[in-house]
Order: sequence, then structure tokens, then C-alpha cells
Amino acid sequence: MSITALAHPNIALIKYWGKRDEALSLPATGSLSLTLDVAPTRTTVTLAPQADQDVARWQGSAMTGRELQRVQSFLDLVREHAGRSERAVVETANEIPTGAGLASSAAGFAALALAASRAYGLQLDGRELSRLARRGSGSAARSIFGGLAVWHPGEDDASSYAEPLPAGDLELAMVVAVLTSARKAVGSREAMRRTVATSPFFPAWVQSVPGELTQMRQAIARGDVSAIGELAEANALRMHATMLGAVPPVRYWNADTVVALDLVAQLREEGVEAYATIDAGPNVKVLCRPDDAPAVAQRLAAAFDGLELLVAGPGPGAHLLQEGP
Ligand code: PMV
Repeated sequence: MSITALAHPNIALIKYWGKRDEALSLPATGSLSLTLDVAPTRTTVTLAPQADQDVARWQGSAMTGRELQRVQSFLDLVREHAGRSERAVVETANEIPTGAGLASSAAGFAALALAASRAYGLQLDGRELSRLARRGSGSAARSIFGGLAVWHPGEDDASSYAEPLPAGDLELAMVVAVLTSARKAVGSREAMRRTVATSPFFPAWVQSVPGELTQMRQAIARGDVSAIGELAEANALRMHATMLGAVPPVRYWNADTVVALDLVAQLREEGVEAYATIDAGPNVKVLCRPDDAPAVAQRLAAAFDGLELLVAGPGPGAHLLQEGP
């Protein structure tokens, strides 16, 4: 029995930063994202009834240590759900640099949630898959769905899931500038933990996000790209402000991050509606209208030598690529 699933990264317009419950991966606030149509993760799960432990390979090489443990714990969860005990072989290939704040863990655990649940005989609906993916990596809850998705913080395991948000006529593009593909020094899990425990700004973040989410949903309903962009950029800066306030501080930005932020502001001054967002890494993603995406990409390419750029639109939710025998 071998099942392959594909899932795409999502970029939050209202960010998830900080957990209320670590064990269940319940977030401190809700969040809202756009699933992209680039850089998917492809994951194959094959049951191995004869094996006495799980094996996971990433881009062909065996995973070890904490990364392997994370996959094994996730499989344990699926097995518990399914009432099964066989071990499995997990093969994952990412088409985007991992650990560079490009949400590869979101696509990874969304694909794993779908492939593993099917391999163990579970037929989960979107909500159940979203809850399961959440346990692997919070933001993965949103990559189960295509396009825009809202993740409800919920009260408990059952009520914390994402669901799709209709976009109407709204058309959005996202230009991803891969300023560096180096692995981040502090993982998002540890950075969140530190922010929650030590940043005096964290309570203000928790207080402000619900209102920002409401405003974002209203802006989306109106199809108001300017308001969506302004809210998204401000929310990303606030997220980084909360972690800059941690002890010791978490700073994901580098000099190029600031250069890119200036360039986006410059584009706006010239009349191009472009808005920046930044996740747990130095890379900058620029939200704009699809018609403006080529101009945005061109400007970024001109500013950085040999820059890797991804021009994305809304992508599909997690889906199966082949059914097992
Ligand atoms: O899914 P995690 O635990 O790696 O969290 C990532 C959180 C951000 O990407 C920084 C923001 C978000 O909402 O995706």
C-alpha cells in the first residue's frame, strides 16, 4: 500500500505566532493565509508491515534526529487514530529550500497528513485533515485548502482547524524573493516558545490579531487589494516586533530583508500596489495584483544579483496523486 500526496506552501496574510497549547498545537490567535501554486511538497507513504521502525527520507537521504522524530510522532498519531501499528516508509521531496521561512513545513505536514491517513485506511474530511496536519506543524492546517484559508484558533483539538475562505473576484499574486536559502538559526517552534514566555509585546499581539483578522476578512469580502496589502504588511511587522522583544531577541531579518522592504515601499510610491510580508526567515514575499507581478519581480531581480524568484498565484489544496492497489 503506497499513497502519494501533493501539498503547496501557504503564506499568512495574518500570521500565526505563538501557541496556547504546545502539546496540541493550539495557536494563541487565529490566522489567514494564501496557499500558493508553486513549490509543492510531494510525499509518499508506504506501509512496511515487516519493519520494526519508521524510515523517512527527504530528497532521497535518510532523515535523522529531531526531524525523523517529528515524522515518527506524527505517524504515531495517525496510527492511534486508525487503530493500526505497522511502521511506514515516508519519502518526501520539496521543491523549495527548507527552513528558510518559506513555509515548507506547512506543505510537508499537509502532504504527510493526507498520504499517511489514507495509507492507514482513514478517510478524513477537510476539517479532520486540517486538525491532523496542525499537529505536525501549525501552519500546515491551512495548506490542506487551496486559495485563501482561515485557521480558527479553537478551544481544543476538535475546534482548532482551518477552512477555505471564498475569494470572489479577488485576484492576488505573490512574488517570493529567496534572498537566502540558508537554514534559519532559530526554528519557529523555539522562537514562538521564547516569544510567548518572554516578550512583553506578546500580550499586545494576542490582543490585536482578532481585530486585524476581522478587518482582513472585510477587506477580502470587498475585494480591496490596498486594504488587504496594508493589513498584511502591518501584521507581519507586528509579528516580528513581538519576537524582537523576546529574551534573547529573535531577529530573522538580514540587511537584504530591509533593502527589499524599501524597494516595496518605493514601488508603492511609483503607483504599483505591492506589499511585503516576512515569515520565520529573512526572505520577503510581495503581495500584489497578478498584472503587476512581472514588474515587481523585475524590480527585485534588478536589486539583487542572482536572485531566485518565484511568482505565485493561488494554488490548490492538498490532493492525492495516485491511489494504492
Ligand atoms: O507552522 P510553523 O509552526 O512553522 O509556524 C510558522 C509561522 C509563520 O510562518 C511565521 C507564520 C504563519 O502564520 O505561517
